[in-house]
Amino acid sequence: MTATTPRHVLILGGTTESRRLAELLQGAPGARVTSSLAGRVATPRLPPGEVRVGGFGGAEGLAAWLCEHRVDVLVDATHPFAETISANAARAAATAHVPLLALRRPGWTPVEGDDWHEVGSLTEAAALLPTLGRRVFLTTGRTGLAAFADHDLAELWFLVRSVDAPEPPYPARMEVLLDRGPFTLDGEHGERELLRRHRIDVVVTKDSGGAATAPKLTAAREAGLPVVVVRRPAAPEGVPVVPDPESAASWIREQGSREVGK
Ligand SMILES: NC(=O)c1ccc[n+]([C@@H]2O[C@H](COP(=O)([O-])OP(=O)(O)OC[C@H]3O[C@@H](n4cnc5c(N)ncnc54)[C@H](OP(=O)(O)O)[C@@H]3O)[C@@H](O)[C@H]2O)c1
Repeated sequence: MTATTPRHVLILGGTTESRRLAELLQGAPGARVTSSLAGRVATPRLPPGEVRVGGFGGAEGLAAWLCEHRVDVLVDATHPFAETISANAARAAATAHVPLLALRRPGWTPVEGDDWHEVGSLTEAAALLPTLGRRVFLTTGRTGLAAFADHDLAELWFLVRSVDAPEPPYPARMEVLLDRGPFTLDGEHGERELLRRHRIDVVVTKDSGGAATAPKLTAAREAGLPVVVVRRPAAPEGVPVVPDPESAASWIREQGSREVGK
């Protein structure tokens, strides 16, 4: 039996890996690939193939979409911190009897010389910050800035890096740097220079994993700076997980072969 791509694959996207997966599946004979984006970013990087934008209306809405559009395989390739859509995907796939795969890039692990402070949430990160520094490089995204808007943090200054401009509530004293990865370690716009220029003394990050945003960790280690790392939320139980787009493409083709062999 030869591996073949199922007729309709829906990729829940918004990540580098989801775009790569759409590229890998592109052009498979008879296959239709739809990527779904939440619509959070004003000018998203678009994957090849069909793209739909906006929420489905909860797990029920997603289940209905899967049935209406005759989806054969669902891939949750959303960001590891996109907890709600991942839970919805698990429920919707079960309701609609559609095989579901989670594509999750592995998290980061500390190496010799790192000064990491792991926390369970942005609120915990905010509570810890005054003990670690005064000039904060905040890389957790523009949603969730409310956790750092508290009066107790009024003495702290934040460099907030995000793709689009944040909306209040946000920290009282901050500068916004609009940019999106991949980021580099060296050069005028590299992470080393960024930490030096802004006299950063503590970095805050989610454990997003991946190479695109990892140079800040190297730069912080070299500069001897503490890094507050927000741990990942738990992934839905019982959903098979692969770490990279290539493994996801293989898994999807196996599903297609099963369909053909039915
Ligand atoms: N959270 C992060 O740190 C982060 C970082 C980088 C990229 N992203 C990407 O940004 C998007 C939103 O993240 P989030 O953390 O705000 O999500 P979330 O909290 O898990 O989801 C909130 C709601 O947004 C809609 N949604 C989320 N992802 C969607 C998708 N790919 N296609 C269609 N609707 C989607 C769903 O609305 P309905 O209930 O109406 O269906 C979902 O219930 C995700 O696609 C994620 O991959 C997130």
